[in-house]
Amino acid sequence: MPDPILKVEHLSMKFGGLVAIGDLSFEARRGDITALIGPNGAGKTTVFNCITGFYKPTEGMITMARRDGSAYLLERLPGHEITARARVARTFQNIRLFSGMTLLENLLVAQHNKLMKASGYTILGLVGIGGYRRASAEAIDLAKFWLEKADLIDRADDPAGDLPYGAQRRLEIARAMCTGPELLCLDEPAAGLNPRESHALNALLNDIKDHTGTSILLIEHDMSVVMEISDHVVVLEYGRKISDGDPTSVKSDPKVIAAYLGVEDEEIVEVLTEVGDDRVIEELDAEPDRDHGPPDSASMLAGPVTDTIAHSDDEERVSVMRGASKAERIEEREARDRAAGISGQPDDKRGGGE
Ligand SMILES: Nc1ncnc2c1ncn2[C@@H]1O[C@H](COP(=O)(O)OP(=O)(O)OP(=O)(O)O)[C@@H](O)[C@H]1O
Ligand SMILES: [Mg+2]
Repeated sequence: MPDPILKVEHLSMKFGGLVAIGDLSFEARRGDITALIGPNGAGKTTVFNCITGFYKPTEGMITMARRDGSAYLLERLPGHEITARARVARTFQNIRLFSGMTLLENLLVAQHNKLMKASGYTILGLVGIGGYRRASAEAIDLAKFWLEKADLIDRADDPAGDLPYGAQRRLEIARAMCTGPELLCLDEPAAGLNPRESHALNALLNDIKDHTGTSILLIEHDMSVVMEISDHVVVLEYGRKISDGDPTSVKSDPKVIAAYLGVEDEEIVEVLTEVGDDRVIEELDAEPDRDHGPPDSASMLAGPVTDTIAHSDDEERVSVMRGASKAERIEEREARDRAAGISGQPDDKRGGGE
């Protein structure tokens, strides 16, 4: 992929016995809106938490490549440096604003680190001449700029908690933009918005994309938003990547349709016949798509994710079933065969309907 801004390689995140993300790799291109989609509990927010330093991944590497050529391994940086040095900002699935503070104050607090640095971390610096005053004037200008972009300037002095929901979402994005990010991670910004608010959000995101050069990584359930504004879509199911490509190809990928409709592999053809997608049915009958899904490694041997991972809706927990690994089952069978004096080619056994 030309000029990736973010590379996620073999990322895994386990919580005790629960595999929230398993061996996930994908890239986001500079200047693109990359959407990360998948059913509830697929691990999308966990990916964001790993990228932005809230969780330390169990395994894997996350590389952020800045415009100036510097690169940062995010899994090794403390959270505040991910914003300040690697220039990654995020919003949250549940809005986190200072609801008692005004809109302007919220955007100034976001620039606190920059202002403190300008003060030299001294009282004299704060009250004195030069650096701090200039920085604080600049911070106000930047806050005003983003309030205007987010169509919120008229409410600048109102408490953030008084805003309607859609406007609070835009304020969160404005706040993140005030930290000067090169990568902006948005966790379900369109959730709960009415069509008008959703339209205003799309306009803001497209404006950011077209005029700031900030790349966007977007978690979104609303497929109309995903299809309308994203350049590239990565689909997760139970912590694994099941599809990766442009919005049109991902939309017609049988694995994605199955994941969203919650059907078993064997039923996919039926689903596609129902939706009348002949082209996809032909592809399904052909060879497996090497670009989608894992390489021929242990993870391939482990079989479909649905076989190896159990998912409980009640607790929103994903856990690998004991003894579900097909690789393990093949090894056990080979050992049994050896003990019984039967020899055979391992490849025959791999293709043997497991
Ligand atoms: N801190 C944690 N401790 C234990 N389990 C966790 C933790 N964070 C996430 N999980 C589990 O990891 C799995 C993935 O959760 P995650 O929130 O990343 O999913 P998601 O794709 O964002 O889902 P949704 O669309 O519902 O927001 C879930 O089973 C969740 O319960
Ligand atoms: Mg989530």
